[in-house]
Amino acid sequence: MMKLFLLCLLYIQVFSSPRDTVAQQHTTGYVNITEADTSAGILILVNKNHKLPEGYRPPDLVPIEEAFNRGAMNLLRKEAARAFANMCSRAAKDSIALWNRSAYRSDTVQRELFENAVMRSGTQSAEQFSARPGHSEHQTGLTADINSVHSSFGNTPESAWLKENAHRYGFIERYPAGKESITGYRYEPWHYRYVGKKAATYIYQHKITLEEYYEIIGKQTRKTTR
Ligand code: DAL
Ligand code: ZN
Repeated sequence: MMKLFLLCLLYIQVFSSPRDTVAQQHTTGYVNITEADTSAGILILVNKNHKLPEGYRPPDLVPIEEAFNRGAMNLLRKEAARAFANMCSRAAKDSIALWNRSAYRSDTVQRELFENAVMRSGTQSAEQFSARPGHSEHQTGLTADINSVHSSFGNTPESAWLKENAHRYGFIERYPAGKESITGYRYEPWHYRYVGKKAATYIYQHKITLEEYYEIIGKQTRKTTR
């Protein structure tokens, strides 16, 4: 009996410690963390394993065209902002209204969002939909949450339009359904990431994620340099 009690105590200690234990890291996905390569420009990979350098701020943030913004976080990198406006104006011609609700976020804002998510939903659940500060793509200035942050957005004509057309403007659906174990996040039909037309088209055509794209590109580079 005493043994069982001690075992329970040990279990509680290990799994409720605020610091990440190895076991926790495996369930949250924050393992083997390396610094995100900011020299990769619009192809930068930021996820649970790739963290932005402390205090990173993208170099050329500009406001999104007013007609396509309804959020307080209205900045994107210049190239992404232009592509976003082009995409939204083309969508409008198809009677599809698209707008930004949250684009660039600073480290401080991301920290607040993450901490709020943890308070509301608990750490385990929050980790599946909110990035820890330094690990959010929103900090790259290359990402926008579009229209609604409810999973029902995935059933709207706006989402269908984005899924079929965003790549033509250089954007990808970053956290698709069925890829949760690769991206580390739940399905987010509203979260679009700018990677440029070439990469976006490849990712769209092969139905892959940015993580998988990096794998493929990495393999190709290794082959040609052998
Ligand atoms: N919701 C995404 C994962 C973020 O917090 O960046
Ligand atoms: Zn997002």
